[in-house]
Formats: sequence, structure tokens, C-alpha cells
Amino acid sequence: MKIGVGSDHAGFAFKQTVLAWLERNRYEINDFGPYNEESVDYPDYARKVAFAVADAECDSGILLCGTGIGVSIAANKVKGIRAALACNPEFASLARQHNNANILCIPARFTDAVTIEQTLQNWFSTDFEGGRHEKRVNKIEPCC
Ligand code: RB5
Repeated sequence: MKIGVGSDHAGFAFKQTVLAWLERNRYEINDFGPYNEESVDYPDYARKVAFAVADAECDSGILLCGTGIGVSIAANKVKGIRAALACNPEFASLARQHNNANILCIPARFTDAVTIEQTLQNWFSTDFEGGRHEKRVNKIEPCC
């Protein structure tokens, strides 16, 4: 399974935690940057990961910024992307079960390493439930 990862400067430090967890758990990684803590614009990195997931170059994506809000807004502009902001591990499970989310967005300034690792664990071990949720997810379409 290949995972696209990206952040901005605020998410850079915890991106290392994410990369280490993915390596330990033997996921293939495409790190779209940034590669240092210099200030950058989160839409640039959100878009790279979102396009990689939408084009099936990656199976899913992980994005980090200060709140997780900016990267989720930006990623969700790409057709086919369902980027979910997960403030805790339960959000990650529900984003997979109910929303079939394909990008996980992490609020780097409002979390800690233990929470991130449990969030990743839930994200990768939870499947979409389908059923009544499938009809709803299919209604999520660009409308103008
Ligand atoms: C960067 O200061 C911050 O605005 C960004 O990381 C993010 O939180 C935006 O949504």
C-alpha cells in the first residue's frame, strides 16, 4: 500500500512521526514535502497529495498543518478526494467507516505523538461500512 504524505511548516515536525510510523509498519511512502521547516503554503502540498490519491498513484494520503483545516479545505477541492480532519483516533475510524475518507488530515498544533500513532492505527485498520453510507458518500459531488 502506497501512502502520500505532505504538510506545511507547522506540520513538518509531526510529519516525521507519521513517516516513522509508516516505515515501522512497512507502508510504501511518497513524501511530497516539504523537507525542512521553512515557511510554505499548505495548499501547494495538499494539492500534490490530493492529485496523487485522485490519480491512484497513492492508495491514501496523510496531510498535516497547524489545525489540519487548511490542508483539508485545499485537498477537498480535488475531484474524488474525501479529506477528513481527525482530531482524535475516533474521528479517524468514523471517517473511514462512514465517509470512506481517502485523506487523513492531522492538526499538528493540537495533538501529540501518542494520539497521532493511535489515529494512524485506526485509520489503516478501519474499512468503509458501505450500506446506508454508500448512498450518502455517492451524493458528495462538485455542484457548481
Ligand atoms: C500556518 O501558520 C497555519 O496557518 C497552517 O498550518 C494551518 O493551520 C492552516 O490551516
